[in-house]
Amino acid sequence: MDKNSYIGVFDSGIGGLTVVKGILDLLPNENIVYFGDTAHVPYGTRSRRQITQYVLDDVRFLRQYDIKAVVIACNTADSTARETVIDKYPDLPVYGVVHPASRKAAALTKNNRIGVIATKATANSRAYDRAIASYNPRAQVFSEGCPLLVPLVENGRFQKGDIVPETVVQEYLDPLAAKGIDTLILGCTHFPLLTDIIREHYPDLTIISSSGAAAENLREGLEEADMLSDSPGGEHKYFVSDDAALVEDIAHYFMGSALNDRVQQVTVG
Ligand code: DGL
Repeated sequence: MDKNSYIGVFDSGIGGLTVVKGILDLLPNENIVYFGDTAHVPYGTRSRRQITQYVLDDVRFLRQYDIKAVVIACNTADSTARETVIDKYPDLPVYGVVHPASRKAAALTKNNRIGVIATKATANSRAYDRAIASYNPRAQVFSEGCPLLVPLVENGRFQKGDIVPETVVQEYLDPLAAKGIDTLILGCTHFPLLTDIIREHYPDLTIISSSGAAAENLREGLEEADMLSDSPGGEHKYFVSDDAALVEDIAHYFMGSALNDRVQQVTVG
């Protein structure tokens, strides 16, 4: 592998495209290979054992591309199986979402009360609590598993003014607001799309996207390791484990632009 090798990015499905979008914005010259395990999405409702098995399959697929780093774009995967990936591939730089978002929240909170919204598996893993404590031991963390939000976003129901997501967001966030949090981590690939709704109802919160924080952290890490691509432009490959057409229909929610005819289906595992 060298500077111009691919960065491998994976997610349980297509939500990880919010991380890819962040990377493309910051690092347009990088070559990226993305894998979305759409045959097995969602991970957020599954057991640790099952998630770990899927994650190992995801990384094995990406390693065919001689990747210079892997980005675990899925909060559920990063919360659950990060250590397993590091143990199995000690020579592969592993980037994630949980630590970058935690570090940012730990630095930005003024009252040391941080909320995290995530899938149930991420909330139950307590990975955010541990990561935030490692950066700011005085911070109190309040995590909420929000299983209804992923299907809402995948069905395009994330626009301000739509009473359905507005109601569900408030059901999850009112208890966190009542705890007095001043900072909220969007600890799931899909939740950046809900930013406008959250901002409208909770205007005083500092909102941290784990997807955006992951892209910033990747840039920092590659810079430090002197591994930024030095060739202009970037090649981007997109693979999924179920029908590509299903992804192409809604990829623009997450990427901001369409991926028509650019996604290929592969068999993994
Ligand atoms: N990508 C997942 C995450 O960020 C959300 C979807 C799922 O449950 O697989 O946690």
